[in-house]
Amino acid sequence: MKVLIIGSGGREHAFAWKIAQSSKVKKIYTSPGNGGTRLHGENVSIDLANMEELKSFVLSKKIDMLIVGPEGPLVDGIRDKFEADHEISHIPLIGPDARGALLEGSKEFAKDFMKKYNIPTAEYRSFSIETFEEAKDFLKTMNPPYVLKADGLAAGKGVLILDDYDEAVNELNLMFEGKFGQAGSKVVIEEHLSGIELSVFVLTDGKSYKLLPEAKDYKRIGEGDTGLNTGGMGAISPVPFAGRDFLDKVEDRIIKPTLSGLAQEGIDYRGFIFIGLMNCSGDPKVIEYNVRMGDPEAEVVIPRIKSDLMDLMMGVAEQNLDTRELIIDDNTVITVMLVSGGYPGDYEKGKIISGTDKTEGSILFHAGTENVSGRLLTSGGRVIAISSLADGMDKALETSFRNAEIINFEGKYYRKDIGFDLK
Ligand code: AMP
Ligand code: GLY
Repeated sequence: MKVLIIGSGGREHAFAWKIAQSSKVKKIYTSPGNGGTRLHGENVSIDLANMEELKSFVLSKKIDMLIVGPEGPLVDGIRDKFEADHEISHIPLIGPDARGALLEGSKEFAKDFMKKYNIPTAEYRSFSIETFEEAKDFLKTMNPPYVLKADGLAAGKGVLILDDYDEAVNELNLMFEGKFGQAGSKVVIEEHLSGIELSVFVLTDGKSYKLLPEAKDYKRIGEGDTGLNTGGMGAISPVPFAGRDFLDKVEDRIIKPTLSGLAQEGIDYRGFIFIGLMNCSGDPKVIEYNVRMGDPEAEVVIPRIKSDLMDLMMGVAEQNLDTRELIIDDNTVITVMLVSGGYPGDYEKGKIISGTDKTEGSILFHAGTENVSGRLLTSGGRVIAISSLADGMDKALETSFRNAEIINFEGKYYRKDIGFDLK
């Protein structure tokens, strides 16, 4: 099979790395890809806004499957556009259609969906500029901290957690005035949940599902979970505090009702569902849905999948996922993200990366790297995820941190406390 992966991060490199191991896969293209995905195939540059360009690529290269990494194209309806064109509609695309993608693309849709199908989540209401006064009254009924969420996609920045009522009202006003553009024209105000966060991942063909390994990521830039939010500075799987009992609750109370809710809504969901959870004293509540794998969660989840991921993807495409095998490695995988100095604020690109050929015992998933005339250069904030699989967290950490020292580029930074809170 010939596969086209859409995306450019560590997640897409993890997909390419894994499916390259499948005997079913002959050729992998990644658009736009990075310095790591090219090790498994060819990087190409396709303008997704131009459906004709995508179509002619897929037809001329005889692509048998598309795997869409990020949420943007899914929310924009890439699958709907594919299915609407009879020349390419037979080519399977892993990822939901635009209605399914609303689980991530609209917080209001996601919350209303959870309410309708009795899926445990924080209490909430949603507001727009027309109901600003009601929003202020609603905030008064809530206990701080106040949680404000822009309805639409806001590059991971659309959630504000504020201690002070006046500040919350002020921020709400700014959101309505366009702080996050159109994404903030509606705002969900919700109850603040306390507990420990983790995420579960489901692969579904719309009829049955496979539960993938759970993971926990480290979102803040600074050690001890301080400083600004990032795309993710590291991750771990399995999550020590997510025992069998807890995961059974997640399946019964969240995953099964989510999938039956999607079916009842007439949404033919084929792809990944990433469920961000709060463990509230042993009871799971949904913080958010994403309609894709996480990044860097993919860099710890995918290495734990022993089975052929391509076979599972074909199960999704052919809607016979229940006949496919999923074997999970019991070992622990940790990933430590090397980032550019200054990230998540301004940072420089084009720094020479050295030492990737000298690491041992880890899988290097490239995120913001590019190969320019044979030299590996930084090209993004998150540069390389160093994933290590080992029998136990300590060994996995030791390997990732050792290799984090060996790889170098000017301004390199990483969190040295990944996993420490779980020991
Ligand atoms: P989201 O973009 O929905 O993932 O939210 C970003 C982060 O905000 C989450 O990962 C949580 O850490 C936090 N968060 C979101 N909603 C809540 C909530 N209701 N209570 C506590 N923390 C929350
Ligand atoms: N690491 C969080 C995400 O992929 O959204």
